[in-house]
Amino acid sequence: MRNSLAVCYGTRPQIIKASVLLQALGERWEVLAVDTGQHYDYELNALQYKQLGVRSPDVYLEVGSGAHAVQTGMILTRAADVFTSRRPWAVVVIGDTNSTLGCGLAAAQLRIPVIHVEAGMRAADALMAEEINRRVVDAFSSVLCAPSAAAERHLKLEHVSGTVVQTGDVARDVLVRNLDRLPLAADTAGWPLKPDAPFVFATLHRAELTDDARRLGNVMSGLGEVSLPVILAAHPRTKTALERHGLFHRLPPTVHLLPPLGYLQSLGCVRDARAVVTDSGGVQREAYWLGTPCVTVRQETEWEETVELAANVLVPPGQARERLPGVIEHHVRGPGGRGGWSRDAYGSGDAAARIRDAVEGCGARSA
Ligand code: UD1
Repeated sequence: MRNSLAVCYGTRPQIIKASVLLQALGERWEVLAVDTGQHYDYELNALQYKQLGVRSPDVYLEVGSGAHAVQTGMILTRAADVFTSRRPWAVVVIGDTNSTLGCGLAAAQLRIPVIHVEAGMRAADALMAEEINRRVVDAFSSVLCAPSAAAERHLKLEHVSGTVVQTGDVARDVLVRNLDRLPLAADTAGWPLKPDAPFVFATLHRAELTDDARRLGNVMSGLGEVSLPVILAAHPRTKTALERHGLFHRLPPTVHLLPPLGYLQSLGCVRDARAVVTDSGGVQREAYWLGTPCVTVRQETEWEETVELAANVLVPPGQARERLPGVIEHHVRGPGGRGGWSRDAYGSGDAAARIRDAVEGCGARSA
């Protein structure tokens, strides 16, 4: 395959977003699909391919897990080899993971134009891995696809050198397409509750939370105090951290652990839950779109519109033990009611087509 447009991804949410990007971009150009292999467990990788009908990647970099430097270094060198031999005319990267940085940097160093999907997200913690990744990639990208007006504003304020286009969020495209395929939460394998029992759905995976025994213990205690049972779909890192910190066998009896869920089951749980507790950016938006009140256990969120619209409430992990139950209770009964907020802060589900138009319009092909 020569002269193609490369689309790079490697983690669970990136495979989900790639499902629509590969299709939209593939309608116009030959696409080289590159999976870095950052996520490799069946539940995080192959299950998403299967559920969303994503074609097999053309190249699999097989990098696996490792310290940031090791993982990013492996992605950088392996992606550079691929780009050197295949010479894509542009490289699309998504989000803020080590796969985004490694593949983007490999392309930029070869003077291949980089298209950054989900550009312009910003957090105050400048040393968080994701913040480093997204700022660096935004600095050298030729086309910056901002999912929201705020993201576009951040990029303009920073005077980035590439072309900034507000495209909306491809995660909404995927959700819109799959809305009528969502199973009932209670049909999830291993569901521990009666079919109609109300529940809170939780996902936690960020290193800032899981690496800190006190913070993680605090959040687990807070979840245990919630008046409803909690279904926690645990990322592999979270399960390992619970074991490492001696929390696994001391989980509150109302907190039920499930393995990581496929995209469709996870969305079914978000839709059917009374409330969602998460530290994932993806789940915050999914709850916002599906009308489920969300509590984010972080100091801040890049998806600031969800908080402004009262769909999402922040609770710092250190305060989770005391505040989580009350905040959930109040939020569920809150003034916005269930889903009484505007849902269009991140576009209307046509982001992939807008990104395709932005790529075409930027003239990257002749660069
Ligand atoms: C990565 C992203 C994060 C994103 C998340 C989506 C970075 C810096 N972080 O975090 O922004 O929100 O993906 O899920 O890129 N592991 C497995 N099996 C797997 C993958 C990982 O067991 O298939 C375990 C390993 O112990 C690994 C740990 O999870 O060390 C963390 O994985 P890693 O790829 O480093 O980052 P995530 O936490 O998944």
